Amino acid sequence: MSPFLIVILTLLVAYKLYKFAYDQPPNTPPGITRIPIGGSYWMLLWGNYKFPYLTINYYTKKLKSKILSCYMGDFFTIIVNDYKSIKEVLSREEFDGRVTTAQFIKDRAFGKELGMFFIDGQKWQEQRRFALRHMRDFGFGRRQNKLESEIMDEMILFLDILKNEPIYDGEKEILKGNLALFPDILYASAGNNIWNVMFGHRFDRSEHDIPRLLCRSSLLFQRANDPTGGAILQLPILKYFGNMFGYANHIKGSTTFSNIIKKYLEYQKTTISENEDRGFIDRYLKKLNGDDELNNFTEEQLIILLTDIMIPACSAQPSMITHVIKYLMHHPRVMEKIQNEIDNVVGTGRLATWEDRKNLLYLEATIRETMRIETLAPLGVTHKCLKKITLGGYEIPVNTPIYINLAAMHHDPDLWGDPEIFRPERFLKEDGQLAKDVTLPFGFGHRVCAGETYSRYNLFGTLVLLLQNFNFFFVEGEPSSLEDKLPGLIVSPKELWIRLESR
Ligand code: HEM
Repeated sequence: MSPFLIVILTLLVAYKLYKFAYDQPPNTPPGITRIPIGGSYWMLLWGNYKFPYLTINYYTKKLKSKILSCYMGDFFTIIVNDYKSIKEVLSREEFDGRVTTAQFIKDRAFGKELGMFFIDGQKWQEQRRFALRHMRDFGFGRRQNKLESEIMDEMILFLDILKNEPIYDGEKEILKGNLALFPDILYASAGNNIWNVMFGHRFDRSEHDIPRLLCRSSLLFQRANDPTGGAILQLPILKYFGNMFGYANHIKGSTTFSNIIKKYLEYQKTTISENEDRGFIDRYLKKLNGDDELNNFTEEQLIILLTDIMIPACSAQPSMITHVIKYLMHHPRVMEKIQNEIDNVVGTGRLATWEDRKNLLYLEATIRETMRIETLAPLGVTHKCLKKITLGGYEIPVNTPIYINLAAMHHDPDLWGDPEIFRPERFLKEDGQLAKDVTLPFGFGHRVCAGETYSRYNLFGTLVLLLQNFNFFFVEGEPSSLEDKLPGLIVSPKELWIRLESR
């Protein structure tokens, strides 16, 4: 080949590569460089292999824009990073879509688009509306004496297990003398409480291995996934590499969970009666039996719907409580202040009730501060633009996925001043009342976390119970850093033994 031709070819390849790296649809936000095969994902991984979403901060500064674009594999994607644009995206129904077609997501759902997290359009509206309307009657998202008193029973049992010797093998693995393994110690009550809403019964102490397995499977699933969709979204073939890219645990976690549901669903079906109303699942089964034209209401949909709603209750909930306890151990002055507040408001002779929440404002501020600094779902759950639309002066093409960078917003110095400092006081006014809360740990708008109210209730209840009764200490010789956490759809704390001393 002549040298001239070689130069021409080299220039052509360089030009093609340049175009590939920097080309993007017209009038779209500044973009993160794109590399063949993985697109901009490589750049995110290069900046932070464990928590790739953290690299986005570098690009918001470099490209001087809080709205960015990138290519995740072949998918042109938008990333919103500040309060204003996040609030706008979450408020507008044109952004209510999800990425529904990824095969690895369908693989956990009978090969179909089912559940609540990864569906959109009319199907999503129908399922979400039906679930929330009926779960509310069983105390989910609304105060209900029956559920509250059953959660309280569960709390009393939890306290009893912590204060006395473990009895069952499953307990002995996570409780040794005054050492408790977090978050595992929280699993039995977290799993049982949500199971109760759905099925109308709880597993008794001798059967706690079941809610514990539900929670462990949930975390396995959460940790196997990447909030950006990860490598398998871009290169589906990678799912055949076992667990190298998390696929095996993604499937194992989710299907272990849905198989337990399936098993108990069979029992529920054979024992259902017209006069009984045991839990949400009975309402759904009655709907299935009563109407012939229910395209989107099927037994498979019920199983994945339950899986989707219960997985966060079994994983996000215990993870967040553990994050709070860890922050308190690293900030003993804050722990002491909360305990003084609990002693003044609740005392030691009774358990706290929901009514006490309005008087435990320092605790509330601490929960908010932990959910800000340790944003559990750092990129939320990916949205999708359902129409061609304008955002912040940019044009967003139809079907573009959108990452909601809640972690960036929760660490935005323009909003928080000193975002890296753990300071619950930032949520209190000078008179001690709660200040306006601009955090969005549960998202916002139509897609807001379906479990927000339930979750806030349980976070509060469990934390008061623990802090009223115990002081928490690191185990000698086993230092723990706040950085000991694992990536996934949610950022979860590494398992940690904690020494509990009765107060
Ligand atoms: C501290 C605990 C939790 C946090 C921080 C959290 C956060 C979130 C976030 C950020 C989203 C995405 C919102 C969006 O798409 O814009 C979400 C969605 C969701 N959450 Fe939670 N969550 C928590 C606990 C729970 C619990 C306990 C449940 C159920 C019992 C739950 C059920 C759901 C469901 C079903 C969705 C999907 C909603 C939809 O797509 O329509 N979450 N959550």
